[in-house]
Amino acid sequence: MVDTITEAVRKQYEAYSYPPPIEDAESFLRKWGPLTCDPKFAGIQLWPEGRPRQDLRILCAGCGSSQAPLIALNNPDCTVLGIDLSETSLGHSKRLRDRHRLANLELRQMSLLDVAALKRSFDLILCTGVLHHLPDPDAGLKALADVLDPSGSMAIMLYGKAGRAGIYLVQDILRRLGAGPNAEGLGMARELLKFIPPHHYLISTTGKLPNDLADDAGIVDMLLHPQDRAYSVPEIMAFVEAAGLIFSGWSDNALYCADRFLSGEMLERVLALPAAEQWAVIDNLTVLNDRHDFFLRKPQSAGFLMRFDTDECLSYVPHVRSGTRLAGDINSLVLTRTSLQGEVVIPISRSEALLLERADGKKSISEILSHSVFAGFEPGQRNSFARAVCGRMWRSGHVLFGRSGT
Ligand SMILES: C[S@@+](CC[C@H](N)C(=O)[O-])C[C@H]1O[C@@H](n2cnc3c(N)ncnc32)[C@H](O)[C@@H]1O
Repeated sequence: MVDTITEAVRKQYEAYSYPPPIEDAESFLRKWGPLTCDPKFAGIQLWPEGRPRQDLRILCAGCGSSQAPLIALNNPDCTVLGIDLSETSLGHSKRLRDRHRLANLELRQMSLLDVAALKRSFDLILCTGVLHHLPDPDAGLKALADVLDPSGSMAIMLYGKAGRAGIYLVQDILRRLGAGPNAEGLGMARELLKFIPPHHYLISTTGKLPNDLADDAGIVDMLLHPQDRAYSVPEIMAFVEAAGLIFSGWSDNALYCADRFLSGEMLERVLALPAAEQWAVIDNLTVLNDRHDFFLRKPQSAGFLMRFDTDECLSYVPHVRSGTRLAGDINSLVLTRTSLQGEVVIPISRSEALLLERADGKKSISEILSHSVFAGFEPGQRNSFARAVCGRMWRSGHVLFGRSGT
């Protein structure tokens, strides 16, 4: 028996499929590149110890209108199962499956809560923008954990509480006015948006309404949803722990990076906190995260959170993140790349640059340090230099780390 909330969510996504359907998956990938949860893009973050197999069994739970075909097209060696409540969204996915002849894509209309009934397990589970719409998100994550292979990995996206504060204020007004996810509610929402003052929390840092409010499905999804909750960083950590999983990292650390937003004594104070506390501070400080994208593993897997406070990290293999560039002149070098929040620029010294230039995705930090350019350092000094540099690069997300042999 489907509960009334799940039924309302299904009806909403049948009437207003979201995200907006795409015409052609190949041109989408050419224009935008792979999704950030795609194993071709996030491989090292999903499995720092190395991909468990080439022919991954992938589950897209709450796949919507295009996620499953995009993953299937970009990963022809893998099999993809897309499940969703909405027949309309699955219809858009089926059209893409036929258009691109995706023999590796299976689509089913069902709730992710019933996934155990399929009696299958998966190496990779993608569940982005879905669990926060369940009446009991904890039950949803547990249902997914039950079908994750012990060596598997999950990519999750949940709404961010700090970055969505304005959305909840507007949702509250619309609820008081009796607006629902239908044509009448949409009319009311459009009318209300005309009165949003420029200083309202709904207005983005660029001074505009969020892009998603440009069309009906976006307005319904953001402002008229029957079931939607958002998470702070500590709430995410508790959510993960309650499902018996381990948090293995953010999709982009830059969005939680203390070094980007603080300096001096305050930076030192915050860096002295455990990693999850640092992220909570920055999330509350910037109020920029309207979504949290992260990866989860099972405790028996080889997943772990990178640490740079002991020499153990010297066995990690640094991989410079794609799109990261060295810029500036010899006396003021910077590392720069584009993130969800725009350009992330961090200053870098010449000796730090020497270390990063040798990061080829194969050599461990200690192998890099054995190069003659680092011969001038005392061994202890050399190790603490490498720990500090790599820790800072990891926090800013410019460098990702794997284990030897990956
Ligand atoms: C915002 S869309 C996200 C779609 C896709 N994951 C993406 O990132 O493009 C949310 C989707 O989750 C689906 N959904 C919500 N609750 C679900 C459930 N219990 N089981 C399966 N799908 C669900 C909705 O029908 C909708 O298509």
